Amino acid sequence: MSIFDNDIQEVLFSEEQLKNRVQEIARQITADYQGKEIMLISVLRGSFVFMADLCRAIDLPCTLDFMAVSSYGKGTKSSGQVQITKDLSEDITDRHIIVVEDILDSGNTLSYLLKILENRHPASIRLCTLLDKPERRVKPVQVHYSGFTIPDAFVVGYGLDYAEKYRNLPYIGILKPRVYGG
Ligand code: XMP
Ligand code: MG
Repeated sequence: MSIFDNDIQEVLFSEEQLKNRVQEIARQITADYQGKEIMLISVLRGSFVFMADLCRAIDLPCTLDFMAVSSYGKGTKSSGQVQITKDLSEDITDRHIIVVEDILDSGNTLSYLLKILENRHPASIRLCTLLDKPERRVKPVQVHYSGFTIPDAFVVGYGLDYAEKYRNLPYIGILKPRVYGG
């Protein structure tokens, strides 16, 4: 039980389910990049929990970097206008990049971000998203690693927020629409 439970309509993925799926993805990445060094790029802030768990389960030489983009403001819909609010600290030229995202929704954010990163000439670039809402896709985005496909509902927890809250929920749940006036 937590103080947030009253705001959650349905638990989609428990701590245990998240842990198991993250381990599976990490094993897949470890197998795919044998003999290589990788660089994980976490898209802040939503992916910070996923990034922390994923990177510790990957058995490869690995560096980390972070970037932040804004496209949502305080609402629940992407505006389509994407802005880099924090750029990478590292040079990604000739590096094997995996972009780590919490959720792929309309695709606006990631199609923009991936284009920018590709222009910096990494050796390779792949996308790893914990959640995918394919029903809502507006821009096509190629996904290499995906944790779970989810229906078109607003979800929070495990890093995902509504108005900056709920990121510290250990599970992922559907937010009750009354919380955001829906
Ligand atoms: P787009 O639409 O550009 O959106 O693919 C990607 C970003 O939107 C946020 N997002 C959500 N955040 N619950 C959240 O907490 C959701 O259900 C949700 N859907 C989209 C998220 O920040 C993601 O990076
Ligand atoms: Mg995000």
